Amino acid sequence: MLTTLVLGAGTMGSTHAAAFTKMENVALVGIVDINLAKAQVLAKKLGTEAFQTYDEAVSSINDIDVVSVCVPTPVHKHYVMKIADDNRHVICEKPLARSLSDARSMINYCIEKGVKLFVGHVVRFFPEYVRAKQIVDEGKIGDPAIIRTTRGGVFPVASNDWYSNFISSGGLVLDMIIHDFDYLRWCFGEVDRVYAKSSRARVFEKIEYALVTLRFKSGVIAHVEGTWAHQGFSTKFEIAGKKGLVEYDSAKTTPVVASQKETASNEGVAVPESPMKDSPYFTELQHFINCIHTNDEPVVSAEDAYKAMEISIAALESIESGKAVVLNNKEKEVVL
Ligand SMILES: NC(=O)c1ccc[n+]([C@@H]2O[C@H](COP(=O)([O-])OP(=O)(O)OC[C@H]3O[C@@H](n4cnc5c(N)ncnc54)[C@H](O)[C@@H]3O)[C@@H](O)[C@H]2O)c1
Repeated sequence: MLTTLVLGAGTMGSTHAAAFTKMENVALVGIVDINLAKAQVLAKKLGTEAFQTYDEAVSSINDIDVVSVCVPTPVHKHYVMKIADDNRHVICEKPLARSLSDARSMINYCIEKGVKLFVGHVVRFFPEYVRAKQIVDEGKIGDPAIIRTTRGGVFPVASNDWYSNFISSGGLVLDMIIHDFDYLRWCFGEVDRVYAKSSRARVFEKIEYALVTLRFKSGVIAHVEGTWAHQGFSTKFEIAGKKGLVEYDSAKTTPVVASQKETASNEGVAVPESPMKDSPYFTELQHFINCIHTNDEPVVSAEDAYKAMEISIAALESIESGKAVVLNNKEKEVVL
């Protein structure tokens, strides 16, 4: 039996907590939120205990094996270090951190303390995305050449409106289309060069739209579209190879694509749903729990999470400078 504690009772905390209650041999022992009333509502629903601070939780519960960090991104580092200090395994929501230096410190600290650090890059657990990767790997579309992805919906509104504070969230490029960066890197290897444009520089009043072009070392080109300017929530991709194309559009094939809340006046981030028996979030968390039992490497490592952040940060740099950014900082040049 593994015991889990969830930090944050917002959109992702609720998702993690509910998943843990459905797993065999896992017990959800508590929920922590700075907003105690919010933690209490969720804890009551799921039959567990609520706490206002991590310290209160650990002093009241003897046995905690794993802690899920589902608080706003800038707070991830503080908790991950604390949890590692207590020799507990960590599941941290993506993006791993707000800055690359924080992410590096977190990874190194968890290694030093001998605890596992899993990062919630859930797209690797969406069956449609997994299937597309298999099709590509099996050579069914020939050598991949050009990819197009889209992800987005309404501007997210959450606790303290933290998504609308670019300093906190990193906006659409760090927070949202990092999912696609991670997926694309999983499928097509390392990225060489990043060029990006976003509406952020001109208008950032709860509306954001970005286009990012990635050139992979393999020569593959990906065009990543992100939006916090549309209604609803959907994701799409097209992967074109020399012999064929694989495509997906969640709005067409997934009848239950659901924004948790449709309007900007309600709190809650659009979280895609899948008509599968188990949601990809459940599959992902179950996989992390299994890796703790078996000591296997996870499908997505903390280092992968760092690499995905590198792409996001390069895209943000490109948006600022108007120039392409070559990863590894070897050169910077204008393209397109
Ligand atoms: N994997 C995904 O698909 C996905 C989707 C949405 C969000 N996320 C990520 O999950 C994380 C949480 O996002 P969210 O949308 O659930 O946010 P949210 O605002 O809905 O929830 C965060 C909760 O943390 C609480 N909180 C804030 N500071 C705290 C602190 N210091 N100590 C304890 N509790 C604190 C808030 O009161 C709030 O209830 C973010 O890193 C976000 O990028 C991932």
